[in-house]
Amino acid sequence: MFQDSQKQKIIDTLTNLLVPGGKYKFSPYIELAQYKVLFDEVVDSSKRREQLKKIIKKHGSRIESIANKISEFFLKKEFTREKYADPLFLDTYFVHYFPVNVCKMQHMMLELLQQDAIGESLRIVDIGVGTGTTAVAILDFLLATKTVAVMNGAPFDIRDIKIICVDVNENPLSYSKRVLEAYREQLNSSSLDGEIGDYKKILIDCIDSIKYVKHDINSLDLNLMDNNPDLVIASNVLNELTDNGKNNLYRSLNSLHDGTLIILAEPGSKTASQNLMYFRKRLSSSGKFSSFSPCVDGVADHSSCSSCWNRRSKGFNQPLLYMETHKLLDEESKKRFTEQDNDLLSWSSAIFRKSSRSVQEPQVENEYRFISSYTLRDYEVLKCCAAGSGHSSLEVHRPYGIEIPPLFYGQKMVITDAKKEVNSGTLVVKLDTNSCVKTKQREKEAFFDSYS
Ligand SMILES: C[S@@+](CC[C@H](N)C(=O)[O-])C[C@H]1O[C@@H](n2cnc3c(N)ncnc32)[C@H](O)[C@@H]1O
Repeated sequence: MFQDSQKQKIIDTLTNLLVPGGKYKFSPYIELAQYKVLFDEVVDSSKRREQLKKIIKKHGSRIESIANKISEFFLKKEFTREKYADPLFLDTYFVHYFPVNVCKMQHMMLELLQQDAIGESLRIVDIGVGTGTTAVAILDFLLATKTVAVMNGAPFDIRDIKIICVDVNENPLSYSKRVLEAYREQLNSSSLDGEIGDYKKILIDCIDSIKYVKHDINSLDLNLMDNNPDLVIASNVLNELTDNGKNNLYRSLNSLHDGTLIILAEPGSKTASQNLMYFRKRLSSSGKFSSFSPCVDGVADHSSCSSCWNRRSKGFNQPLLYMETHKLLDEESKKRFTEQDNDLLSWSSAIFRKSSRSVQEPQVENEYRFISSYTLRDYEVLKCCAAGSGHSSLEVHRPYGIEIPPLFYGQKMVITDAKKEVNSGTLVVKLDTNSCVKTKQREKEAFFDSYS
C-alpha cells in the first residue's frame, strides 16, 4: 500500500492520531454522530466540550435510563433476539459497546495496514451489524489514513469501497443506517478540503451505496461469492450463533474467493475467546485458509490451540458520554470502571486469508509469536503462541529494566541466550541481561526521523 520508505512514518503518525499516549481515542466525527442519533443534537466544532456537557445535562434522565439498562444487563449478559428488538437496549449498546468496538476494529485495521494486507479495493461484508460499528470504524479509519498520507505526501488510493451490512434483525439494520447517515452528515459538514475533501466525497458516496440485508445465518448460508468481497467481518457474532449457524458461517466462508481477508472478533472473556479459537482451528485445519494473525500455520501439534485464551487488551480514552453514563451505574456495576482503567478494550480475534493452499511457515529455532502481555510485581509476562511447542501454554518473562523491541499482536521474535523451564505445563522463557530479543527491523524506528 505504501512505499517502504514512507510506510513506517505513516503508521507511526496514524498510531499517534488514533492512540495518543497509548490509549485509544474515539473519533470526533463518530462521537458527534453519536449525539445526533441518541439526542437529535447537532454539535458544532467550536466550544465542543462545553456543548457536549450541556447536552449531557439536558438529557440527564435519558442517560440515567441507559445507565440503568447497562446495570441490569451486567446481571445477566445475554444478547438475545428480544434484546435487539428493544430500542433502549440498542441505545445502551451504542453508548457502552459501540465506542470500544469501533476502536478495536480500527486497531485491527491498523495492524492489517502494518502487514501490507489491505489492497486498493475494499468491498466489505459485515455480518451482524449491531449499531453499525464495523462500517463506521472502517470508513473513519480510511479517512484518518488518507489524512496522514496527505501530510506525508504519500498516495493512498482505496477508492473502490463498498459495504454490505447483514443482520438477522430489522432493528439493528435500521439503527446502523441512522448511525451511518449521522456519520455522513458529520463528514459532509466538516471543513475537510483539498485532497482530503475529495476523499471525504468518496466515503460519502460509499455510505450512500451501502446495502442493508436481512439474513439469518442460523438458518441459511450467506452467499458471499456474488459480492466478490475483499474483506468479510464477523465481529461479536460467532458467540451468538447456534451450532447450525456456525456450520453455515463455516460453509459461507469456504465459498469465498482466494485472497479474501476474514476478520473474526469476539470479547476477551475466556469462554468467548476459546470458542473463537475452536472455530479458528476448524477453519485452519480445512487447509483452505491461511492464518494471518496471530496464529501459525503448518504446525503439526495444534493441541494447545483450542484451549488458548487469545485475549488482547488496550487502553481507552473514555469519551464524555461513556464516562458520565458509567458514573450512574449501580454500585456493583461501577466497580468495573474507573477513570484510570487502562484495560477497557478487551477482545480476541483471528484473521485469515482464504487460500486454496495453506501457507506452511518454516519453523525457526527459538522463534516465538507474541499474543499479549500483563504485568506482575517483578516482571512482565509476554504470552506467546504455544502451538508446536509441545506445551499447553508459553510465556516469556521480562524482568523490569530489560528492554525489548516494541511488539505487536502476532509479531514474531527470536530469543537467544535465555533460560527455559517448564512450570505446570507452561514453557517459560526467562529473559536476563545476557538474552537477546530480535524482531524484524523496522525501516525507521521513530515518529520523528531526526530522533531515531
Ligand atoms: C453483539 S452484536 C455485534 C455488533 C457489531 N458487529 C459489533 O461488533 O459491535 C451482534 C449482532 O449480530 C446479529 N446476529 C445475531 N445472530 C445472527 C444471525 N443468526 N444472523 C445474522 N445476524 C445475527 C445481532 O442481531 C446483532 O446485531
